[in-house]
Amino acid sequence: MSHTHPDADTLRSALQLAVRAPSVHNTQPWQWRVGEQTVHLYADPARRLPHTDPDGRDLLISCGAALHHLCAGVRAFGWTTRVHRLPNPAEPDHLAAVEFRPEPPTPEAIRLAQAIERRRSDRRRYTSWEVTGSHIAELVEVGQSHGVLVRNVGGDYERARLLRAFERAAQDHARDFEYGAELHQWSGRHAAAQGVPAHSAVISTDPTVRRFADPGLPQAVLCDIDGEDSMLLLSTPGDERISQLRAGEATSAIMLTATVMGLASCPLTEPLEITATRAAVRSEVLHDSGFPQMIIRLGWAAQSADPLPATPRRPMDQVIRPL
Ligand SMILES: Cc1cc2nc3c(=O)[nH]c(=O)nc-3n(C[C@H](O)[C@H](O)[C@H](O)COP(=O)(O)O)c2cc1C
Repeated sequence: MSHTHPDADTLRSALQLAVRAPSVHNTQPWQWRVGEQTVHLYADPARRLPHTDPDGRDLLISCGAALHHLCAGVRAFGWTTRVHRLPNPAEPDHLAAVEFRPEPPTPEAIRLAQAIERRRSDRRRYTSWEVTGSHIAELVEVGQSHGVLVRNVGGDYERARLLRAFERAAQDHARDFEYGAELHQWSGRHAAAQGVPAHSAVISTDPTVRRFADPGLPQAVLCDIDGEDSMLLLSTPGDERISQLRAGEATSAIMLTATVMGLASCPLTEPLEITATRAAVRSEVLHDSGFPQMIIRLGWAAQSADPLPATPRRPMDQVIRPL
């Protein structure tokens, strides 16, 4: 092993963890270029979803999540990272250059990296067991350490406004033929190395659940459905691309930490993909204090709920290139 740079096998293992990151419709819109001393993350604009994600925000959040997964993965192998975000203004798809420095892993770092393989977007109902204030406080702090504001949407008024935004977005999307065609192209029985497979999607009348094609995942059976899931709303002071990248890093950090805690989670962005409902979330839930980027639903999975199979990923040789 070199003292200044992880060897090729270590980097490949870390990149295998990086591509386990969540991404909108499992599009995996990233490319990695591996140099002698650095790893570079590029957005793959051909994988943007024009009718779901017209602004490319979900794409950047997905890439940010993969960037954090890389850093969390390599950290467990004994390396810390220095990340240069958007290093070249002339090349906007070049999202990050990552440098490495040796540092022995801590037990927390190892637990976080181990959570990568276990994490799933779980769209089933969660139990009414409370996600305690100390869990929430820790997750809020994790998000804030990535420069992102995290609000636990708990108050009745704000909660109702957020749910209303989900309902309106689902109604708008149901009338949008091109959105529907795109959703069917990226989900259901035909999902292969990409997209949301039928076995990951549930039938649900809950407005927070996106209407993926051919939902084939049985809903969790619960004795008590009175409880409320926790909803974390991630926002940033500005709405530039770097804020969206950071929001993706925070999403990854929160979801992996939640997985370590034993919590189930699911990222949700449908109301943030439509200008009017995003504006409503900004004014009615955030009271104009930031730009909403991501919503994470959290809770305890039912004990009867089967473990979720992993969603597929593209072959590594399609996403890694030498520099
Ligand atoms: C930016 C972003 C937006 C997402 N939006 C939603 C959503 O609105 N609804 C949903 O059920 N899943 C959403 N997801 C989860 C993806 O569908 C999921 O990450 C992908 O299918 C891969 O599955 P996995 O997370 O279980 O590995 C989103 C993920 C990201 C990163």
